[in-house]
Amino acid sequence: MSYPFEPYKIKVLESIKTLNKAGRIKALREADYNLFKIPSEKVTIDLLTDSGTSALSQEQWSQIMLGDESYASAKSWERFEASVKNFTGKKEVIPVHQGRAAEKIIAEVLLQKGDMAFSNGFFDTTRANFEHQGVVCVDAPSEKSLVPLKPKPFKGDIDTKKLRKLIARHRKQAKIVLMTLTNNTGGGQPASFKNVCLASKLARKANLKFAIDACRIAENAYFIWLNEQKKKGSIGVVIRDIFSLSDIAFMSTKKDGLANSGGFMVTNDRLLAARLRELTVLYEGYITYGGMTGREMEAVAQGLKEVVNPTYLEYRINQVAYLHNELDKIGIPLIHPSGGHAVYVDAGKLFSHITRDNFPGQALVVALYQEGGIRSVEIGSLMYGKTPKPELVRLAIPRRAYTQSHLDYVVETFKKIIRNKKQHKGFKIIWQPSTLRHFTCKLKSL
Ligand code: F0G
Repeated sequence: MSYPFEPYKIKVLESIKTLNKAGRIKALREADYNLFKIPSEKVTIDLLTDSGTSALSQEQWSQIMLGDESYASAKSWERFEASVKNFTGKKEVIPVHQGRAAEKIIAEVLLQKGDMAFSNGFFDTTRANFEHQGVVCVDAPSEKSLVPLKPKPFKGDIDTKKLRKLIARHRKQAKIVLMTLTNNTGGGQPASFKNVCLASKLARKANLKFAIDACRIAENAYFIWLNEQKKKGSIGVVIRDIFSLSDIAFMSTKKDGLANSGGFMVTNDRLLAARLRELTVLYEGYITYGGMTGREMEAVAQGLKEVVNPTYLEYRINQVAYLHNELDKIGIPLIHPSGGHAVYVDAGKLFSHITRDNFPGQALVVALYQEGGIRSVEIGSLMYGKTPKPELVRLAIPRRAYTQSHLDYVVETFKKIIRNKKQHKGFKIIWQPSTLRHFTCKLKSL
């Protein structure tokens, strides 16, 4: 299998330095086996995240040169606002420096201690910001998502039966339904348009706010356009149709904004927008930059135009599917089907000789670095503590940054690992902070 070739040619280079195995083993030891602490120049292929890691186009770079750094009402803000309005179809645009800033402001404006929020899958920062406000967050992912190996479409759906029950059971406390598109914590899987419509209907009927976390909405819209709408109409229209179902939406433009920073909130509700702006001034900056520079707003304004291009999205989704397919062929257990931005490996299954207490996911993350200089992230017991979750490793693919031969190298590295997998041992934590331990904890190899 191949995939539609990269719809761009390379114009500016960032060299990849490759360290030898002894150097990588030393780097791992010095970082206490925590990949967040490995200097990026010692990483060969960086699949830690697809957030803020996109390559910029020449059009973005040329717009960056036009960045207007005036404090208020800059030309760059006008271009940013117009582009966001066109992308979302919403009337009120409030800028923020990145996604979690929007989450904090939305939580503070809309929610109170004791309120309840329901989702197909809260991303960690969304959940953390809502919980910080005293909100109880309940995930209601569709049942099909609970069977990782079965390749069903739209595994990012919310379970609407469960949602209906939750709303009925918690009439007083229920305040908001939030759809994360695509569902990052659930394997980067998309939700169907039909499902988002029904979730919106249920929320609105019960007088709850319906919100969308739109970080990867273009990738989600591509799946809808392909599988649900059979390529009718344009992806831009699908995206606006999804936004139209929401009372409020926010987006970290570090993902489908094809930019290295930024974000926004949108709504058609002028009163709500005014309240969001009050806190934006307090936390982020003036309401025409929200913590972004003019240059950054220019990159986002242009990125939002590029991301709806079907040629780009076809290549993007198929690039992820290519890595998924090649790993599947050599027997690596994965979440099926391939999703939007990443391939999720079931490390618990692959390294079944390592118990949960000894972090099989982290063992795979370390093995990938040791054998190939590949950086990935554990999404399992190390990240989530004792909550029983599958032991996953996410291989997130930065947008427009790597080519097919880089992905082939990743597959070759996996082949090396499985040839001798029992040599890879588990880990013990020797130091950890009180929260979000995976970022800074120190580990010891067994
Ligand atoms: N929502 C989702 C679904 C995300 O994936 C992220 C970030 C955020 C919100 C927060 O946005 O980083 O701009 O503050 N995800 C990154 C990741 C960090 O690696 O998946 P942010």
